[in-house]
Amino acid sequence: DLKARLHRPIVLVGMMGVGKSTIGRKLAAVLKLPFADADDAIVEAAKMPITDIFDQFGEDHFRDGERRVIARLLESGPSVIATGGGAFVQPETAELIRARGIPIWLDSDADTLVERVGRNSKRPLLRGGNVREIVTRMKAEREPFYAKASIKVMSDAGPHNATVNRILEALE
Ligand code: S3P
Repeated sequence: DLKARLHRPIVLVGMMGVGKSTIGRKLAAVLKLPFADADDAIVEAAKMPITDIFDQFGEDHFRDGERRVIARLLESGPSVIATGGGAFVQPETAELIRARGIPIWLDSDADTLVERVGRNSKRPLLRGGNVREIVTRMKAEREPFYAKASIKVMSDAGPHNATVNRILEALE
């Protein structure tokens, strides 16, 4: 079966708001695998919220910590890992994920992303701007990076279970 054939972590990549954490948690439950959220692990390691890391130390410092945390999570054997939207855009981090994991790009249209991120102030890159504009521009800029994932799955508006099933089919 699928689980027995998985020797590496499944790593969900893609834009903010696409549902990486929610879908990752459900996928892990179905496969009976451990789940890890890289953003949560960063917050735990830094002992401060992501906005504070950005404000006090800058994005480069955050990306550094993000890479180290993801490198550690990738060592835990078969599992499901949800990453922050910028992780797979960082060349070194993406390299690690491709070498030691199975990257899956979750994609959806900009409208769905905008609706899902809402007015979430926990996302430093969405503060102080028009969310629709930022998300649309960022999605266009990042697509070439996300496209380097081995598998692409659409995460449309609607129940996340459908997306989980699509991932399972893609992995079969
Ligand atoms: C970021 C996405 C966030 C978080 C940080 C930066 C990004 O994660 O890592 O705010 O650069 O897209 P989510 O994708 O879970 O929102």
